Amino acid sequence: MGIHIDSSKTGLPEHNFEKKRNQAEEAMDRLWSGEEPFTGWVRLPLEQDQEAIENMLNVAAEVWTKCDLFVVLGIGGSSLGAKAVLEALMPMPHGFPRVVFAGFDLDAASLLDISEQVRREETCICVISKSGTTVETLIAFSVLKEIMNQKYGPAANSRIYAITDEKEGTLRKETEEKGYVSFSIPRNIGGRYSVLTPVGLFPLAVAGVDIKALLAGAEAMAVDPAWDREAILYAIARVCLHETGKTIEAMESFDPTMETFGQWLKQLFGESEGKDGKGIYPTVLSFTRDLHSVGQYLQEGTPNVFETMILFDTVERDLIIPESAGADLSGLTMSQINNCLTKGVIAAHAKAGIPMVTITVPQKDAFHLGRLIYFFELSCGVSATMFGVNPFNQPGVERYKQEAIEEIRKLRVGK
Ligand code: PA5
Repeated sequence: MGIHIDSSKTGLPEHNFEKKRNQAEEAMDRLWSGEEPFTGWVRLPLEQDQEAIENMLNVAAEVWTKCDLFVVLGIGGSSLGAKAVLEALMPMPHGFPRVVFAGFDLDAASLLDISEQVRREETCICVISKSGTTVETLIAFSVLKEIMNQKYGPAANSRIYAITDEKEGTLRKETEEKGYVSFSIPRNIGGRYSVLTPVGLFPLAVAGVDIKALLAGAEAMAVDPAWDREAILYAIARVCLHETGKTIEAMESFDPTMETFGQWLKQLFGESEGKDGKGIYPTVLSFTRDLHSVGQYLQEGTPNVFETMILFDTVERDLIIPESAGADLSGLTMSQINNCLTKGVIAAHAKAGIPMVTITVPQKDAFHLGRLIYFFELSCGVSATMFGVNPFNQPGVERYKQEAIEEIRKLRVGK
């Protein structure tokens, strides 16, 4: 059984797809050409460096012997992919370090909580930053590093792992000076397309995720041209829906452990497409929870939303509903009821005229998550190109960072 993508509920006439096909195919060819900057991720699943992967697995196995807590520091593309996969696969089997994420905000309270955990538990930390200059990540790293130094003395350095540019940046410089074990982020792969590089793979390997299966999933998509066509169709559907005034895409799942995967999608599409006054605004909904909030808006509010719903054919864990739930529900399983709600929502939303793409996945495992990751990256590369923007930069982000740095400078001058 494979992944099944159904665009039949988008309400788009066939000729729309035909009109845009050439443009989409050209965008796909550009991605595969190897000539465009920052497209190293396209061929990555086909050109896996087996030796490097074995080395990463060996380092992860060393981490298992050293710590109970593994703190991953990074923001955006430097941590969302690993977090998304890990949460989707929860609960992880016992026997691996507990992986927690920090350095993705400026919340002192949560950093203080993690600091306490670092003091109490045997810890290793992994700092991930391509630029090596991201304020949130650097602050968290400096705070936790001090605690590690107090706790372990000079041995702290052997508990710190760094993933950054192979040559440049302050983090690379520090890594070389202190002798942290490190991995490099390929130059031709940007943050949000880097989940299948050490950025995502190393933390996931430490957590006990089968990273070879994740990569095999991506490879299965990359070798099969049928998936290029599916990625093209999804890209065309999204661009056409945008043209009809559907400017918001709700990324949805009836599996709450997919919410962070939705956050990864939100970043991938939002940062890749949203520039020059163009692009679709991505938002993430977790069902059934959000049916009791914006579900109402979706059905009867401003008609500017379309839906992309990720569904799974199977569930890993289920529960029989007890008798006390009443005659209508008792004896059925939670997943049966979830399926009924899914069908009910699809039917009601179709009647309300909300365009929808469903992506049905046989199983929620590393292999299929790898397939999804690659599929969405490819389709996003195509749709952003169709919008006429550069999928791989984020000028707005750079501008707000500059403004913020100015504000920090002003503070220092005032001191
Ligand atoms: O996709 C991107 O490039 C961004 O989301 C970055 O990953 C994010 O800003 C973090 O940057 P860095 O890895 O340089 O700390």
